[in-house]
Amino acid sequence: MEKIILALETSCDETSAAVLKNGNIVLSNIISSQIPVHQKFGGVVPEIASRKHVEIINGVIAEALEKAGITFRDIDAVAVTYGPGLVGALLVGVTAAKAVAYALNVPLIGVNHIEGHIYANFLVEPGLSFPFLCLVVSGGHTELVLLKDHGVYEVIGRTRDDAAGEAFDKVARALGLGYPGGPLIDKLAAAGNPAAVEFPRAYLENYDFSFSGLKSSVLNYLNRAAQKGEKINKADLAASFQRAVTDVLIDKTVMAARELGVKTVVMAGGVAANKQLREGLKKRLQEQGISFFQPPIELCTDNAAMIGCAGYYKLLRQQIAPLTLNAVPGLKL
Ligand code: KG4
Ligand code: ZN
Repeated sequence: MEKIILALETSCDETSAAVLKNGNIVLSNIISSQIPVHQKFGGVVPEIASRKHVEIINGVIAEALEKAGITFRDIDAVAVTYGPGLVGALLVGVTAAKAVAYALNVPLIGVNHIEGHIYANFLVEPGLSFPFLCLVVSGGHTELVLLKDHGVYEVIGRTRDDAAGEAFDKVARALGLGYPGGPLIDKLAAAGNPAAVEFPRAYLENYDFSFSGLKSSVLNYLNRAAQKGEKINKADLAASFQRAVTDVLIDKTVMAARELGVKTVVMAGGVAANKQLREGLKKRLQEQGISFFQPPIELCTDNAAMIGCAGYYKLLRQQIAPLTLNAVPGLKL
């Protein structure tokens, strides 16, 4: 039976609403970014983020319905991100979703934001078969997740300190590039020499990651150069830093895939938009004969379509949330 899902995502600085048919067909995916609002503060200001979500969520939902060519009456279920994320921001989406579900008397589905990122892969590859390994790399998360079935996960490695995206954002800020830093470093690095500066790579003995040492090393390098009055080549620095991050992410993912014997690897999260990471991982996995899928860039960063996809599979499993659903900022996978 055909299922139309309205999905909402407001966990950070994007207000997004999407309409999906049968979980994999995206009829609309409206993403309204607050980046220009937060840019002058050099990062997301939680209180401003919540207020902006409140201001525009109704308009974003209306636009998603219009673009999909449906009305509220066509909706069979509402999926929403309820964590992890900023509590005030999450609450706006959760409250809106509850209101729609209650008014229409349709199921409400609470989705974990990270699960949503992973499910962006089912939008591209509906036939993705289990088990597969997913490298989750976002502003708040860096995890290697083994997916055994829908909703059955094992986190086999995670960062012990900074997330990969966080390292990108902090280094970009130190270079005076602006916010969010990942796309800016990605662009600048294309013109730089990745072998210009040898930054440390933390290869912990298991599948865990650590990026704070690398971040400190870049900051020390910049401080030393400033003290000596030396001019730095920002493109070389961006390229060298980016290579240090992606080397570890790629090596660990390939190592985990081989040791676990999985035949398919996917990636997810904002940092999965990084060109060097996309190309590097693809090449290395191809050499190993391991299949690799990656969502297009617009489905790597925060969007509601991925939440709708994860929500659809939860609906099939009858994992319906009560109307008392609350935001859980520290929600785990
Ligand atoms: O998944 P996402 O949109 O939000 C979170 O759930 O955190 O990820 C945002 C993160 C930011 O740290 C941003 O700098 C990073 O993803 N990012 C990138 C790129 N595009 C976004 N990092 C590296 N290269 C990119 N092209
Ligand atoms: Zn995200």
